[in-house]
Amino acid sequence: MAALETIECLQREALADLDSVGTSAELEDWQHKYLGRSGRLTLFMRGIGALGAEERPAAGRRANELRRLLEVRYDEREERLNQSELASALEREALDVTLPGRRPNVGRLHPLTQTRRRITSIFAEMGFQVYNSREVESDLFNFELLNIPRHHPARDMWDTFYLSDSVVLRTHTSPGQIHVMRERCPEPIRVILPGKCYRYEQVSVRHDFQFQQVEGLAVGRGITLADLKGVLQAFTKRLYGEGREMRLRGGYFPFTEPSVEVDLDCAICEGDGCRVCKQSGWVEIAGAGMVHPAVLRNGGYDPAQYSGFAFGMAVERQAMLLHAIDDIRHFYANDLRFLRQFHGSG
Ligand code: DAH
Repeated sequence: MAALETIECLQREALADLDSVGTSAELEDWQHKYLGRSGRLTLFMRGIGALGAEERPAAGRRANELRRLLEVRYDEREERLNQSELASALEREALDVTLPGRRPNVGRLHPLTQTRRRITSIFAEMGFQVYNSREVESDLFNFELLNIPRHHPARDMWDTFYLSDSVVLRTHTSPGQIHVMRERCPEPIRVILPGKCYRYEQVSVRHDFQFQQVEGLAVGRGITLADLKGVLQAFTKRLYGEGREMRLRGGYFPFTEPSVEVDLDCAICEGDGCRVCKQSGWVEIAGAGMVHPAVLRNGGYDPAQYSGFAFGMAVERQAMLLHAIDDIRHFYANDLRFLRQFHGSG
């Protein structure tokens, strides 16, 4: 019975071969070799029809049995391989959930944003509304309506970026005063105007070509210099603490009369004299004054019936004093070592 022997032989070889299969790829090769379209068992079965009549039925049965056996063994093997491959993948890609997580980098508000928000919230509590005005201004609003005519020497106080003959980047937030007055007239006004300003300046420890101001404006009947002083005093106590002294010193601005400069006793040297206060013990924190009659009139208010006060301060200057920062250039240098020091949420 040569055909049956061939089958026995095929079975032994196939099962021995299967024992040495270690990976899915090897298992596929094995399947190909014995059960594939030109596999050894397949070819054998194709030859059965040519066998003699006495050999054919038994050979056919055995061959079918062998086919089923090999298929079952194939399935078992596949199952085991899948399991061990899964187990090793799980081990390889194991996740240690007890490891500490990686902290995401959390952004914070820029120190100037924090300071500007503190300033605006202090004034908001005193009843001042926030009014946002434009950064690109006409010469008319930035200067002339503020009582600074074209060839007046007071223009030297502002080194200006001109975009064209009559359009400028605002050199201060004061032109917003005119916009508010024209919009609100004849209503009383109590607003602050925060925003960026630009000056064609040599960059130094104290000056940058771009900075932020907060302007203030109050217009109504019977407003006096005492109101201005009271508001500024309340403001400096809130921002800098009860221990700081504020003083008003006579000054000059074309859009106020009288004009004052607002000083704070130097928080850095406690009044003993240092570089920041130029040995004077006082640091200037704002300009202010009673709104000039010409400016009131340009805003639509009759100076015979209305009066008002105004002030303007640089946000950078307040932040420098609050945090003892000695160089304005830190604010716009984008150095994370500097910025990370300001944890407050503002
Ligand atoms: N605009 C002035 C400046 O940038 C600051 C200033 C002074 C604003 C007096 C005012 C003011 O409103 O009354 O130098």
